[in-house]
Amino acid sequence: MASSVTQTLKPDFPQDLDDLLCSDPQQHQQEESKSDDPSLLLVTRSGYLNGGSRIERAWAHWSKLGRPKLIVAPMVDNSELPFRLLCRKYGAEAAYTPMLHSRIFTENDKYRNVEFTTCQEDRPLFVQFCANDPDVLLEAARRVEPYCDYVDLNLGCPQRIAKRGNYGAFLMDNLPLVKAIVEKLASNLEVPVSCKIRIFPNLQDTINYARMLEDAGCSLLAVHGRTRDEKDGKKFRANWSAITAVKNAVRIPVLANGNIRHMEDVYDCLQETGVEGVLSAETLLENPALFAGFRTVEWIEGCEESTRDGNLDQADLLVEYLKLCEKYPVPWRIIRSHVHKLLGDWFKLHPHIREDFNAQSKLTFEFLYNMVERLRELQVKIPLYIKDSSSASAILANS
Ligand SMILES: Cc1cc2nc3c(=O)[nH]c(=O)nc-3n(C[C@H](O)[C@H](O)[C@H](O)COP(=O)(O)O)c2cc1C
Repeated sequence: MASSVTQTLKPDFPQDLDDLLCSDPQQHQQEESKSDDPSLLLVTRSGYLNGGSRIERAWAHWSKLGRPKLIVAPMVDNSELPFRLLCRKYGAEAAYTPMLHSRIFTENDKYRNVEFTTCQEDRPLFVQFCANDPDVLLEAARRVEPYCDYVDLNLGCPQRIAKRGNYGAFLMDNLPLVKAIVEKLASNLEVPVSCKIRIFPNLQDTINYARMLEDAGCSLLAVHGRTRDEKDGKKFRANWSAITAVKNAVRIPVLANGNIRHMEDVYDCLQETGVEGVLSAETLLENPALFAGFRTVEWIEGCEESTRDGNLDQADLLVEYLKLCEKYPVPWRIIRSHVHKLLGDWFKLHPHIREDFNAQSKLTFEFLYNMVERLRELQVKIPLYIKDSSSASAILANS
């Protein structure tokens, strides 16, 4: 990818051992250069907002992408290339990148090259940014548009860091700025603009917000059915009826986010809300094979008779993930995070293996593959299950 001004990374991007890449990126440059192919550009440089019916174009684009229903949600330090590829192998039909910081992305070569990687199989791809300056975001977005299918604006991050930086869900307090950002992108980019929002406590405010985004040029809207204050996804159930109301209030494609833990949730959500597709985040981290119909033991209670061992477990998925990381390097801190999410239940049974893992200030692939072997030798068996009536194809055929 093209790069621009190099500046010092600190303090926004601290570097320690865990921030180092897990393998040598040189050998992958050839792979990356393939995506410089100008034929990947989607529409001409006239800007996505101009000409024709915007709504029709939004739908034409969605159809061109194959109308993906099963989508990997954006996750900082977690929805990076190897994880996206793993989820795609197990049924995900599209994926978001982690949120990228638009200003740092424009200023810093190293941030750009480390935090945004992709490859030809990594499509459809939605590249997400946080921003509060239309011009800065446009500059950042222009760098990624040849490699993606939507440039997405994060309007949902509720964390303190987003409050300090005035982005994410805190832009809900400044809707004229949100409008200006979306209009700027939509009238200048080749690829369509998508937005990921949270709901307001008041339904009418949410509907007005969604309509404003549509009018400003947003072509795809993902609605996380929780408010900015409902930070804990385990504590607060997402409000699907608010998502249904948004779906009914706008004409662009809408995606639902929240409460997707297995394929029955996918089916129920599509039926109840009428949206085009669903995003899953936390559950996918524990079970990247969710969209292929696999479920963790937590989600088979009450239906044990109709479920069977799926002959796949989280250690198998970790090994597949590590192989992808060898091919497409990522910082070790990201691998560390996936190991904890994937093997959390395994570590509970053998805490000394977790302690050993945590004690490694510098990880290696050799250590990680050996760690999986050690767990296998301890006869840990935590299968992922398949519920026969909930195979992905059966669910999608019915929806
Ligand atoms: C580890 C993690 C990182 C996240 N990072 C982002 C992000 O970068 N951008 C974003 O819009 N949402 C982010 N989210 C929120 C998710 O995309 C999603 O909206 C939220 O977790 C609700 O979905 P779920 O109920 O399936 O977990 C993150 C969530 C998790 C668990």
